[in-house]
Parts: sequence; structure tokens; C-alpha cells
Amino acid sequence: MTQPFEITLQETNLDAIDAMEGRVCVFVTPDGKLDQLARRVNKKSRGAIARFVESPAFADMKIGGGKAFAFPADLKAEEVVLIKLPKRPTPLEARKAGATCSGYKGAVAILVGAIRHPEDIALGYALKSYQFVKHKSDGKSETATAVLMVDAVADVALEEALAVADGVWFTRDLVNEPSNVLTTTEFANRLKDMERLGVKVEVLEEAELEKLGMRTLLAVGQGSVSPSKVVVMQWNGAGKEAPFALVGKGVVFDTGGISIKPSAGMEDMTMDMGGAGVVSGVIRTLALRKAKSNVVGVVGLVENMPDGNAMRPGDVITSMKGVTVEVNNTDAEGRLVLADILWYTQDRFAPKGMINLATLTGAMIVALGHEMAGAFSNNDDLCNAFLKAANTEGEGAWRMPMSDDYDALLKSRVADIRNSPGRPAGSITAAQFLKRFVKEETPWVHLDIAGVALLAKDFDLGPKGATGWGVRALDRLIRDRYEA
Ligand code: BES
Ligand code: MN
Ligand code: ZN
Repeated sequence: MTQPFEITLQETNLDAIDAMEGRVCVFVTPDGKLDQLARRVNKKSRGAIARFVESPAFADMKIGGGKAFAFPADLKAEEVVLIKLPKRPTPLEARKAGATCSGYKGAVAILVGAIRHPEDIALGYALKSYQFVKHKSDGKSETATAVLMVDAVADVALEEALAVADGVWFTRDLVNEPSNVLTTTEFANRLKDMERLGVKVEVLEEAELEKLGMRTLLAVGQGSVSPSKVVVMQWNGAGKEAPFALVGKGVVFDTGGISIKPSAGMEDMTMDMGGAGVVSGVIRTLALRKAKSNVVGVVGLVENMPDGNAMRPGDVITSMKGVTVEVNNTDAEGRLVLADILWYTQDRFAPKGMINLATLTGAMIVALGHEMAGAFSNNDDLCNAFLKAANTEGEGAWRMPMSDDYDALLKSRVADIRNSPGRPAGSITAAQFLKRFVKEETPWVHLDIAGVALLAKDFDLGPKGATGWGVRALDRLIRDRYEA
């Protein structure tokens, strides 16, 4: 993938503003104060900014919101956008403001001056500028371009912010991609490509998975012509210490299998690899910002199809751990994939902590809608650290309960456990199933992202479609908890 955006820095220079083309963005504090940049633009637009600031519309405007003026009198620019932002915004306010600068085809200048967190303004701009038009015959994807004019260029950690944006874009591209394009093979190839960034990438093929005993994962993919694969990505930025592990469900398409889904809305199941997409995006961000941490990402790439060779309801399958599973519903396939890769990850890496992500249950959407992901955990410390990181990054997450009483619902007549205990508490029983494959000593969080991976309408930091939810929170968690 080529760099999807081009954001550069320029030292503050009032005279340079007059000749800037395209869109010029300026900031005004909530109490109506204009900095030297805004005063210059105000003068060159013959007082339009000051007049707007006096109006009730400015008072009503939200922080980070903007107002556009066309064809300012004495500027070359076609448009000025006035944005309401305190001098010391929170990072989330700065990102919102950055997003407000986006949406213009052509040159964009963002006159930041002395405002704190210019990198968050850049990040908001980059995230909001995302578009997925590669399959539109008349749509060519524009590189999102912007110049940030700042008082102290040397103080801006632009590279790190853009590494985060790049990771989120990567995840969104994977999740938006239709399943005839993003097959298991294509997915693995895109991950293999990250070797260029210094990531160690291994692709485990079916014969190897068979040898390892990953029978529950293989069972899910056995009705598909696309071969099942497990991809292991290692970012080693901190020497020899044990890694932190991220594990992702990568069902490239989920028909439900023989327990087939109704056709209405089935096309959304192209995003059922969302967990694997987020894991991949985080690894990419870590590599791009050369993170001083050891993180391993493991994704299970399979396709759940009905076929003469597909697994059937009632089949009993032995997992890599040795636990036998009755598949009473072939549509509860995500947990079968995760069971084996969670076990494999602990067996091979003995990670100091493990977080898995999966578009695991429709019941998660019933519980929390599209605003928050569900977090399930065996470890308060890790879970709280994650929730804090998610909150800092503005990504909604809410802890859900687990208990032995829910675990008891997994009981099977013929095997150790069954994969689908039924409708009540569907997200919790799914989490209990996963917990059967987590060692007691492994601090673990399961994130059910069924409701947040893909949105049907535009949101603050992007257009409708894939969100990349979780990339920022996990990058933040790793940065704050596992980097010196
Ligand atoms: N991939 C689905 C869950 C899903 C539903 C994700 C809607 C995103 C949006 C998962 O594999 C699934 O089919 N789960 C079943 C589980 C049930 C059979 C126990 C579900 O939620 O209905
Ligand atoms: Mn399913
Ligand atoms: Zn699924």
C-alpha cells in the first residue's frame, strides 16, 4: 500500500498565508480569542471571522466544529474554515478539529500556531480523510494532503501520529474489502508484505495446522475452497522479554455453514475477519513507529461455507488443547477458530498478557449496540488498563460479566463442551467457551467487536463502513504498559 496521506509541517509564517491555495483552516478559542494566524486571516477576509465569532451561531458551535467561508477577499485560498478549539484542547478535541479540516479536494493548510497537540489534529485529519473507492470505476482515491503551520516544528511527534493513522487505514481496508478479493490467501499475502517493515511473518498452511492438531480451526474452513491459514506476526522491539499477544478471528466470510444464515444482511459477514484486521493494523502501527515492545499477533484465517465436505451440526471435534467440542451449530464458528489459536499462542509464546478480538456474537449488538465493544476478562488489572486506554482514545468498551454459572451452560451430552449453548447471554457463553482455552496464569481479555467493527453511518473520525475500532486503544495500551 502506498502512503495514503501526505501531511507535512511548516514553521509559522504569516506572509505565506496570503498565497496559500485551496482551503485554509484557522482556530478560535471558545471565548472568541483569535491568535495571530486567525487575526491575519480575519484581516485578509475583511473581518468575516470576527463577525462570525460575535454571532449566536459561534456560541452554539461545538468544540472541534467548523464554519466555512467561501472566497475570502484578499487571500488566494478558495475557502476559509473557522474551527472552535481551546488553546489546550484534549487530544480527542484536537482530533475532532483535525477531522473538521478534512473533506476538501485539493490543498489544505491548517494554521495550528501554538495550539497544543498538533499531532492529534493531524491524526484526526488523516483518519477522517479515509475513503474506500477502489472498486468504483469512476472513483480514484485521492491522497489526503495537508500542511500544518506550527510555531515549533521540532516539537511535533508527527511520525508517531501518522503511524497510528496508517494502522487504522490498513485495518479499514481489510475489513471493507469484499470476500472474493480478500480470500485467506490474499489476506496472508498482505500480512506477509509487512516483512518490509521489519515484522517477522510466518504463514502456517493446512498441513502444518493438521500436525499441530488445530482440528477445530480446520473444521470451520473445511467446506471452503480457500485454504485455512494461521498467520503469526512478531514485532520484536524490546530484546528477549516475553511478548504481549494479540489474537484475532479472521473469518473472511461467514455464511453460517450448514447452519446457514438468513440471506438478508448476509453480505455484512464480509467483515467477520474484523478481529484479525485490528490485530494486523496494530502490528503495522507498532512497526511503523518502531515501538520498544515485543508483541506477537496471531490470526486464524478461514472461510465458513456450506459444502459436501463442510462440518455438520452434531460433529464432535478435538481441539489442539485436547478438549472435545460438539458443534451443535456451525454458525458459532468464531470460537472454534479462536480456541485453537488462543491455545497455540500460549503454548508457543507464554505471553505476559493476551487480548483477543472477534466479531463473535450478534448478541453483543443486542447488548451494547454499535457504541461499545464488550470486554470479558480473567484479570482486573489488564482489563482496567485496557478500558482506560480505550477511554483515552475515545473508543467505547464496557466490561461484561463471567462466572461458573454461565460456564455450566457449555455442557454437552456427547463431548466435553458444545459450541452453542443457545440464546440467553449469548455473548457471555461465547466468552466462557474461549476461557476454556485460556490458561489460568495468562492475563486475558476477550473483546467482542461485532457491533463496532463496521458502522452503517458516517462517524466522527471516518466515513460509514469499517471503523478500525481498537487499533488506537491497543496501541495506547501497549505504549503505556509495555514500553519503557
Ligand atoms: N460472525 C457472527 C457474529 C456476528 C453477527 C458478527 C452480526 C457481526 C454481526 C458469528 O459467527 C455468529 O454467527 N454468531 C452466532 C452465534 C450463535 C450461533 C451461537 C450469532 O451471534 O447468532
Ligand atoms: Mn457465524
Ligand atoms: Zn462469524
